[in-house]
Amino acid sequence: MKELKILAILAAFTAVLYWGVETYAHKVFYPPVAPADFTFADLHPEAQTASEVDRERREVLAMIEQGDPAAGRIAVETNCAACHTISADGIEMMSDEQLIAANGLLPPDLSNISSLYDEVFLMAFLKDPAEASFITSHTMHQREALAEAKAKSPEDSERLINDHVRTVDGFNNRVAGFFNKMPGYAWLGDEELANMLAYFRTIAKPINEITPREITMNACARCHSVDYDNMALKADMDALEDYLGVRPPDLSTMILSHGGGYLTTFINDPQKHLLGTAMPRVGLNEAAQDRVVAYLEEVGDPNIEERNRLGIWFVGYFLLLTVLAYLWKKSEFKEIGK
Ligand code: HEC
Ligand code: HEC
Repeated sequence: MKELKILAILAAFTAVLYWGVETYAHKVFYPPVAPADFTFADLHPEAQTASEVDRERREVLAMIEQGDPAAGRIAVETNCAACHTISADGIEMMSDEQLIAANGLLPPDLSNISSLYDEVFLMAFLKDPAEASFITSHTMHQREALAEAKAKSPEDSERLINDHVRTVDGFNNRVAGFFNKMPGYAWLGDEELANMLAYFRTIAKPINEITPREITMNACARCHSVDYDNMALKADMDALEDYLGVRPPDLSTMILSHGGGYLTTFINDPQKHLLGTAMPRVGLNEAAQDRVVAYLEEVGDPNIEERNRLGIWFVGYFLLLTVLAYLWKKSEFKEIGK
């Protein structure tokens, strides 16, 4: 009977550790946040309910549906091709190396953006990249840097502004440009933006023909490397640090240190977990984001399935061992007359 008591104490102790202490510690380190929102409801501040958000979204999607892809292609060639390649359509004015040298980081290839990013998000992003991607800390970092430079000399602050601001002649996107290297295009008007997005629909591959690695490359590699899979950083790290205020981490082991659940809410809206972070909301749709998380799982924790499968055998093995040990002990104690 003594053994059973010891077992009960051990089990109770383990249970308290596992469900009590561990769960509590997890909550402290990762306070629970609202689930990922793939409707990007905040982009429609006037909409009060989910159905109003849905209506607003359908309006934007209908505009894209009615857009003119041929006009869109011309607008894209004129406005975007200086910084982005569109390999699916043979639009490659510069090599990746040249683009990195010019921008500090590689602006993503635009071939598949319709399949990867939420189109309503894209519409908002094109109008105001800083606002849509929530890069509050770019803002904070750049404001600090600007204040510092101003204090030093007017030339310094002028240089800094010229480094960060990408004005397109005559267009008032200085503010958006200052906070994001991608300029805003609100001045083009909704119809022209819808034309562009209509064009992107015509060249994009369906999501299931794009590999998870390619998605990660498009959405993340301009700021993050994935060393375990030889995915190089598509940026000049010093320029990146100057832009973001921090050096973004390698993503190889993120799945182990943070877990899939965290990544799901974090990628969808980094501000939820790290208020003020320089990591932007990139606006991946749900299917694309799931693939990025699956990719990080495969790269960082390739044995997870095997481990889960072996787990039950492992527990069985210990149960069997317990029974055998008990029987052995009983027979031994019988011999010494206890
Ligand atoms: C002056 C260079 C420049 C021009 C011109 C430009 N972009 Fe960008 N774009 C960038 C840079 C740099 C980034 C990456 C910004 C970042 O990650 O902070 C980017 C990012 C993007 C993204 C990624 C969005 C996301 O959520 O991550 C899309 C989509 C995009 N641009 C589309 C366009 C389109 C469409 C046009 C033309 C209307 C365009 N860009 C014009 C530099 C440019
Ligand atoms: C424009 C640059 C940029 C892009 C694009 C970007 N990130 Fe980040 N990311 C950052 C920065 C900067 C940090 C560091 C944040 C901090 O320390 O506040 C970061 C941090 C992270 C972290 C660590 C979070 C934590 O809690 O420690 C993960 C995970 C991550 N990014 C995943 C991704 C994934 C996945 C993508 C693509 C879908 C992506 N990032 C795209 C800049 C970026």
